[in-house]
Amino acid sequence: MAPPCGNGRRWSRAIKMTFYLFFLIPILSAGNRNANTIFGKKQKLEVQQHLKRLNKPALKSIKSPDGDIIDCIDINKQPAFDHPLLKNHTIQMRPSSYPKGFSFDEINDVSSNSEPEFAQPWHLNGRCPEGTIPIRRTKEEDLLRAGSVANFGRKKYHTIPNAQSSRPPHEHAILSENGVKFYGLTADMNLWNPYVQEANEFSLSQFWLVNGAYETDLDTIEAGATVNEKLYGDKNTRLFLYWTDDAYQSTGCYNLLCPGFVQVDKQIAMGATVTPYSKYNGNQYALKFYVSKDINGGGNWWMNINNRVFGYWPSSIFSILSNGAARVDWGGEVLNYNSGGQHTTTQMGSGHFADEGSGKASFFKNLQVIDALQILRGPRNATTFMTKPECYNIINYGGLFYFGGPGRNPKCP
Ligand SMILES: *[C@@H]1O[C@H](CO)[C@@H](O)[C@H](O)[C@H]1NC(C)=O
Ligand SMILES: *[C@@H]1O[C@H](CO)[C@@H](O)[C@H](O)[C@H]1NC(C)=O
Repeated sequence: MAPPCGNGRRWSRAIKMTFYLFFLIPILSAGNRNANTIFGKKQKLEVQQHLKRLNKPALKSIKSPDGDIIDCIDINKQPAFDHPLLKNHTIQMRPSSYPKGFSFDEINDVSSNSEPEFAQPWHLNGRCPEGTIPIRRTKEEDLLRAGSVANFGRKKYHTIPNAQSSRPPHEHAILSENGVKFYGLTADMNLWNPYVQEANEFSLSQFWLVNGAYETDLDTIEAGATVNEKLYGDKNTRLFLYWTDDAYQSTGCYNLLCPGFVQVDKQIAMGATVTPYSKYNGNQYALKFYVSKDINGGGNWWMNINNRVFGYWPSSIFSILSNGAARVDWGGEVLNYNSGGQHTTTQMGSGHFADEGSGKASFFKNLQVIDALQILRGPRNATTFMTKPECYNIINYGGLFYFGGPGRNPKCP
């Protein structure tokens, strides 16, 4: 099907390309030079300049017990508006519509002052005022750990699962719903604090909305919870979102670390620690993610977290996802660097196999997609994919699945 308004698409492409040429390429080449060297004077300057771009002037700053600083930024001066295609963007505070089958009661009784059902430690020391959004401040050491300004806040190329091939060092256990067109998804995911062996490995649980292919063009919208020491400097479980418009090559990033995602919520900070963690054989705590494309309100992709309207990925930052997604994935991913020639002991999910089930393995439940008719429904065409089932596995029960594993064990040496 021919995309609507081809000229507009080409024009927006031209603006994007100009942006990447002028802003990204010089940083990229500098990044490559830096990758294996100690940061010199020039690089220090580059780090300071990048910090200034990332950390907008704060109306209030809150020190979190976990060491983070949360800056309350004027909602109209957030990073998104540095994107060349969002210069004239009028911020939306709510989606204009919800799909059929969506429970409005859930949303309507969540006022902007009510508490999310999970906690972020920075809440203990203050809140962001009305008209601002909380953003985790990027520190100099965060950038230095990335090795280069260009790598900071970004996934590397080839990181999403693909049923045809595994992409070492990435290992997955996921469920995919394939179709023609999806306008969103929802699911409840329980929260864990998986052990991560190496500082440059990570473990995450997340969803993906995908359109395209690596070989041509690939767009994704992603969010979940992760332990990622390289990005955050500790082993806490942190909330994240992600997007790319070109298969992770030059666009997109985690959280609000590059211009793109528009946040409207003042309670939840991306990149901040999220608790409580579920306990093996004990209380289970879940996050509910809900994403829907607001087709009557400009096509933006809105995300609710535990029934709070959190913000949106503007339709204009994507090329093919602006038409809808062709695949929805949910599940876990770890990086395995095979340190010492052995499989990593980095855990996925609870660190227990899917076979252990309720209260022990990590889950995604109440799985639904929003289909081409704008109807919220369960998966009908789901397949599971495991890179190494002896290390991390998944069991699908239809609308609910368990997944995860310990990594290294006698069957996964
Ligand atoms: C923003 O508005 C100005 C003035 O109307 C216009 O010249 C410019 O092209 C617009 N930019 C975008 C990205 O739409
Ligand atoms: C079901 O999934 C397969 C890929 O796993 C895809 O080729 C096919 O089009 C899907 N069928 C429907 C009815 O969406």
